[in-house]
Amino acid sequence: MKIVIINGPNLNLLGTREPGIYGDKTFDAYYEDLKLSFPDVEFDYFQSNIEGVLIDTIQKEGFSCDGILLNAAAYTHTSVGIGDAIKAIDAPVVEIHISNTFSREDFRHKSYLSSVVKGIIVGFGLDSYRLGVESILKIKGE
Ligand code: DQA
Repeated sequence: MKIVIINGPNLNLLGTREPGIYGDKTFDAYYEDLKLSFPDVEFDYFQSNIEGVLIDTIQKEGFSCDGILLNAAAYTHTSVGIGDAIKAIDAPVVEIHISNTFSREDFRHKSYLSSVVKGIIVGFGLDSYRLGVESILKIKGE
């Protein structure tokens, strides 16, 4: 069981970026805990601030892993290209958001990904990623 986590722009700054919204834990620290919680799952983690690199990563991983947790961050609200990449691959993609995007600015209510992903987990803080792992394990019957 291999699950790939892909984080988009500015999520490399978790821990210091707007802690009132995103919390004060770094993603690296959270990721270490997450791996310990699921010892039978093989994880891989990528982060990029560049849309094309995210698309390359989705294409590269999307035919060999069991599922992708994708927090495309701001590109969620703008990227037809990332939506098309999700449609082109085999692996189920779960759209992840740390904050509740629907309780924030109007431009965050639109997602170019929601209609092409398997499901969406929004607003549970970093725990959204753990819930995403659980959802992929369920989909795969594990
Ligand atoms: C985010 C929500 C997006 O609107 C925002 O641009 C992000 C993070 C979240 O995880 O809550 O960078 O995807």
